[in-house]
Amino acid sequence: MLASSDTKTNHTGTRKNDTLASRPYYLTTPIYYVNDRPHIGHAYTTLACDVLARFKRLDGFDVHFLTGTDEHGQKVEKSAKAAGVDPQAFTDEVSQNFRRLTEDMNYSNDDFIRTTEERHVRAAQAIWRAIEDNGHIYLDSYSGWYAVRDEAFYAESELEENADGQKIAPSGAEVEWVEEPSYFFDLSKWQQPLLDFYAANPNFIGPDTRRNEVVRFVEGGLKDLSISRTSFNWGIPVPDDPDHIMYVWLDALTNYLTAVGYPEKENPNYVEYWPADLHMVGKDIVRFHAVYWPAFLMAAGMAPPKRVYAHGWLLNRGEKMSKSLGNVVLPQDLVERYGLDPVRYYLLREVPFGNDGYISHETMVSRINGDLANDIGNLAQRSLSMIAKNCGGMVPRPGTFTADDKALLAAAAGALDSARSEFDRQAFHRGLEAIWRVVGDANRYVDAQAPWELRKSDPPRMATVLYTLLETIRRLAILIQPVMPFGAAAMLDQLAVPADARDFTHLAPNHALVAGVALPKPSPVFPRYVDEEVTE
Ligand code: ME8
Ligand code: MG
Repeated sequence: MLASSDTKTNHTGTRKNDTLASRPYYLTTPIYYVNDRPHIGHAYTTLACDVLARFKRLDGFDVHFLTGTDEHGQKVEKSAKAAGVDPQAFTDEVSQNFRRLTEDMNYSNDDFIRTTEERHVRAAQAIWRAIEDNGHIYLDSYSGWYAVRDEAFYAESELEENADGQKIAPSGAEVEWVEEPSYFFDLSKWQQPLLDFYAANPNFIGPDTRRNEVVRFVEGGLKDLSISRTSFNWGIPVPDDPDHIMYVWLDALTNYLTAVGYPEKENPNYVEYWPADLHMVGKDIVRFHAVYWPAFLMAAGMAPPKRVYAHGWLLNRGEKMSKSLGNVVLPQDLVERYGLDPVRYYLLREVPFGNDGYISHETMVSRINGDLANDIGNLAQRSLSMIAKNCGGMVPRPGTFTADDKALLAAAAGALDSARSEFDRQAFHRGLEAIWRVVGDANRYVDAQAPWELRKSDPPRMATVLYTLLETIRRLAILIQPVMPFGAAAMLDQLAVPADARDFTHLAPNHALVAGVALPKPSPVFPRYVDEEVTE
């Protein structure tokens, strides 16, 4: 049985019962630090995953889509202190903002994980033990630089200087000198296994630019990695040595295993979903996911994920949006102003996925009024109102299809293959472009066929043209469900397509609209954005 996207609404902590499905697809977002209110950068990553999760469900996969919050470590502890609350109370509260975001943005995640949950503490300690039992952990002491903002260790040689002559991390984060007893992971021994793994799995890291960076970094040699801290205690205790807490990145990365039932390797979710199909991340954290994580997993005797994709940053005035720079855009503000579906479409269509990109009011309005209101919205509205007026409000009965009719229908059917191959390499903008090429074809077709002129001269031909348009719109509406679930549903409702006839198998011609079916009264789905008038 295929699950349609609307049967999987937001729910947490539960797992689906169709564990025998043959095509599992497990995808994850980074888990976000709870030091911060979610901004549009966070929303962007999870949106991309949501669109892919919905696409895969419609395409017949048994999807498990995970997001959540990263709640331990010095950075979160510091923020809690600054807020004057204890870290658990602080994380309880801030985590809710991220949970709420999943509702505000209509994300269809199957689970929401918090690293302070008991299931996760168990998993993190289990992976530690597995790595230790295999002989890859030793006790020593660390002295070197640490950036709390990045929760990362840096070598002296990596540091830069800011305008005031202070040492800073390449990310711009402040660094502090740390000296303390620490457990180490023997990362230096994993250089060759990692390089072999990258060579054997050319799709492991995307896009290629990131892949090349990672390979060069690993070729440059790896140092053993400090994986415990003793100078603060907001974290998961190291098994059998509670003076140490686990390095927050080892703790955090393990969330991807926790959520599928690790350490119970016979858990049906672990069996079905591990290794994960895709970890989606921002380019700021590719090293953790593409170097440390596969090394930890191999050391613990588990398979690395199949793919890590690192997208670019949303920029505001040329700088990465971040709380510390005070230049964040809140997703709720955008949604309130422009509407949820348009914002979802805009973010994935405007910025080539993988690149850095700007968002602006002007480009937002041009996408809303161009791609949505004019191109697809007007196409549907024109076709449906002609049918309401001239075809008795029913799906018209087509005659023989001409070459032009067939070409348009074939283009609409073919858009699935293009969208699928683009989405599979996370080229969301290209997938949407492929769908909008058909929208363009359909608009040129209306102009060329001029059905309003056929009304008197050749009514049977008018019926065939309107049928061809309607069937094209049905296929387009099915295809845009992942990115605009509400708008697509409204379009499919207007075509009287039943809720259980909307997954991608229904793009096939044998599911085409049936002549004579009554249609509801049409109403526009994608309104124009009109700037509020400036009053004095
Ligand atoms: O790094 N543009 O959490 P984090 C695009 N807890 N994406 C952005 C962005 C921007 N301006 N700002 C943030 C952490 N992001 C760790 C992850 S995973 C085991 C642990 C997105 O709260 C982007 O996906 O700093 C980035 O990787 C992520 O938020 C970092 O979130
Ligand atoms: Mg960050």
